[in-house]
Amino acid sequence: MTLSDGYFVEEKAGIKEVMSVINHNSIRMVIVADPTRKLIGVITDGDIRRAILKGFSINDPVGLIVNRAPFFAAADTPPQVLIEQFRKERYFGIPIVDKEGKVIDIAFPDSGTFSFLSDNLQKSRRLEKILVIGGGGYIGSNLVRRLLKQSYTVRVLDKFMYGEQSLADIRNDPKLEVVNGDTRHLEILSQSIQDVDAVVHLAELVGDHACSINTKVTQDINYLATSLVASVCKHYQINRLVYTSSCSVYGGSEGNELLSENSMLNPISLYAKMKVNSEQALIAMADKNFGPTILRLATVYGWSDRPRFDLVVNTLAVKALQEGKITLFGGDQWRPNVHVADVAKAIQLVLEAPFDLVANQIFNVGSEDQNYTISQLGDIIKAEIPTASIEVHSELTDKRNYKVDFSKIRNQLIFKPDFQIAHAVAEISKAFQDNKVGDYLNPIYHNHKFLQEKLS
Ligand SMILES: NC(=O)c1ccc[n+]([C@@H]2O[C@H](COP(=O)([O-])OP(=O)(O)OC[C@H]3O[C@@H](n4cnc5c(N)ncnc54)[C@H](O)[C@@H]3O)[C@@H](O)[C@H]2O)c1
Repeated sequence: MTLSDGYFVEEKAGIKEVMSVINHNSIRMVIVADPTRKLIGVITDGDIRRAILKGFSINDPVGLIVNRAPFFAAADTPPQVLIEQFRKERYFGIPIVDKEGKVIDIAFPDSGTFSFLSDNLQKSRRLEKILVIGGGGYIGSNLVRRLLKQSYTVRVLDKFMYGEQSLADIRNDPKLEVVNGDTRHLEILSQSIQDVDAVVHLAELVGDHACSINTKVTQDINYLATSLVASVCKHYQINRLVYTSSCSVYGGSEGNELLSENSMLNPISLYAKMKVNSEQALIAMADKNFGPTILRLATVYGWSDRPRFDLVVNTLAVKALQEGKITLFGGDQWRPNVHVADVAKAIQLVLEAPFDLVANQIFNVGSEDQNYTISQLGDIIKAEIPTASIEVHSELTDKRNYKVDFSKIRNQLIFKPDFQIAHAVAEISKAFQDNKVGDYLNPIYHNHKFLQEKLS
């Protein structure tokens, strides 16, 4: 099989165009060659980012920055020589040339040995270094553990508003780097972003009530700083950015129809309005290279090393366990739900998906079978903790009402959640038995209560 054009560029091609070719191929580098495919050099995504840092423009020709003396090999090179080269150097690929110096294949490292691209397009190299902004939070601390287990190198940027406990037991992992900083500081943002392969942005003020305390700070963090994250990514050609929006953007919908990514938005809180603003800002920045992905998460539940008991399922479960009461406000409002580990799974799926499948796309994250009314949620918790009694208050403390369609993520990314609410109730119950929580009313577990003291 001959290699497709997706692995070759000419010297005169602009850096931006070359980055687009790299975004779409599977080895994070391209061969710079003449029109007959005679080898001139190679260039990697890392070379491009270093060139931008030195002041090259993305419109400059790649000929100015190409590595003209790459290691290359003839087709009959003994495998041991290639294995040794991959062991010594962190090459993404080694061009294989014929007698005339024309590139006929690319060898890439594969589990301690190597494969040829022409034989095995599927197995080639994936992203390595991921920046998780907000990696100390409820979702972030779960995601970071997942990525480390999958052998990614992870950098966390977080201001650790709720303390550093969430990452304490993995802090010494050699593949984890932790930066304590604020997304509103351009210098720290730029330093943290410039050398990674992808960014997951989770660092915002979270929840309707938490965002209503100080509306200026909410706008700074949840909209302006989020736009800044995207601008820095785009500037350094970090073209994969995953942003966690929320199904709250659907707000107080009427009727029972399933809301899809194309449905009308009706944000009813500042939190949701800033999500809409940030989504729009990111989509407006997208171009052929920069391809942000927006995930509209269902309401998240489940145990995390940064526990939150201000999320509906967790609140109901913890009150049932600790006070023997399941207190419901209203009952008929629909709400989609998803386990925190399934959110981390969805984020990983996006990071590993072919670029074109996720670039500049919005996905709802969850599953239709976990669209529940508040009273159904009460019944589910009661089934798990039968000793608790249900109390219903007619007053509506939260007017959100939405039932969501998750067919896009299910069909396009083959996403299927692994967990149900019963699992979360068991996890939370075990966390109490293991003395991991103490007083569940401690403001540290409730964003609104905690930020009330800090921001008002
Ligand atoms: N938990 C949910 O139910 C849910 C639902 C939909 C969307 N989301 C979104 O997912 C993301 C993560 O939510 P979470 O539940 O993990 O929240 P969280 O409050 O537990 O975590 C947020 C993290 O971001 C950090 N952070 C906040 N502002 C920062 C700043 N300016 N600079 C650096 N770090 C900062 C905090 O210290 C914290 O560690 C948020 O964008 C949230 O809106 C969450």
